[in-house]
Amino acid sequence: MKNILTGDRPTGRLHIGHYVGSLRRRVELQNEGDYDNFYIEIADAQALTDNYDNPGKVRENVLEVALDYLACGIDPSKVTIFIQSQVPSLCELTFYYMNLVTLSRLERNPTIKEELKMRKFGSSIPAGFLTYPISQAADITGFDATIIPVGEDQLPMIEQTREIVRSFNNIYGSILHEPNAILPESESANRLPGIDGRAKMSKSLNNCIYLSDEPEVIKEKVMSMYTDPEHIRVEDPGKIEGNTVFTYLDVFAKPEHFEKYLSDYKNLDELKNHYQRGGVGDVKIKLFLNNILQEELEPIRQRRKMLASDIESVYRILEEGTKKANLVCDEVCNNVKKLMGLNYFSDESFLNSQREKYNN
Ligand code: TRP
Repeated sequence: MKNILTGDRPTGRLHIGHYVGSLRRRVELQNEGDYDNFYIEIADAQALTDNYDNPGKVRENVLEVALDYLACGIDPSKVTIFIQSQVPSLCELTFYYMNLVTLSRLERNPTIKEELKMRKFGSSIPAGFLTYPISQAADITGFDATIIPVGEDQLPMIEQTREIVRSFNNIYGSILHEPNAILPESESANRLPGIDGRAKMSKSLNNCIYLSDEPEVIKEKVMSMYTDPEHIRVEDPGKIEGNTVFTYLDVFAKPEHFEKYLSDYKNLDELKNHYQRGGVGDVKIKLFLNNILQEELEPIRQRRKMLASDIESVYRILEEGTKKANLVCDEVCNNVKKLMGLNYFSDESFLNSQREKYNN
């Protein structure tokens, strides 16, 4: 069995960081067709672990995220999209896996450590937040998924899942499979910086270009992008490292874009060389990037608008996907419980053994 699963927390519309880091790859995988099942989870329950006081935000963004998926080309006839909180057996699995993980192991998780720092929980860490890697192990094993396309920050979650799988199989019997991550193709794609040049595009930093942004908004954001603060006059030599426009060009520019929009150069290396020598202005490279992003995002935005004009169909897609997800996850959960001996009413030998014990 070759099952692919991945997911996103619905805390906002998806941006081009999600696109190059994950969505684009998902569509490729979907179209290559080399899998038995492909699931995408809208992880609303996980989103609540740090938004428990703002459930409205999570609820609002479930359909936004679904629209983003479909607009990017995720095809619901090939991929099962479902809503995490509506698959109750995920909670059951999580509860049993909790016995297999120590608190100190959870506290050592580098992603959790980083997130705790950012969220300023101090010493009041919600138990739900600390334990969400366990619930993510349920997400993965509940669908017997072994291929997990994610960003690098999710590697500790995959490792945690592998440990739970090993521990479960050792104690109760080998039915779970260890998953593997597949990462984005390049470092820049993995961690697309925000337009302000900061480490990562993130809603809370207000430095994102959203898939649903209108053309003027995209242009405005591109023109305000962080470049090289010491590159003041056109003739000054400019730096490429840490220059956000070039980081984006690394990810998005193809030779045909040069032909179409900047034919003085054959490729990105030529443009970079000239910029480093001096003689290329920031406006020029920004307008070039803007042309490329407009071209890439236009069809996504149009599709999104079309889909949004029939939101009930999107809702039905989620409903159908979630129905299927429940069938699959219930079966895994029943098998897990059976191995743990938690199947009293579907196991005649249980009653028989008790009868024998009491000689009746
Ligand atoms: N933690 C992931 C994120 O923040 C979302 C997620 C939830 C996920 N469950 C998953 C990813 C299972 C992969 C597999 O992006």
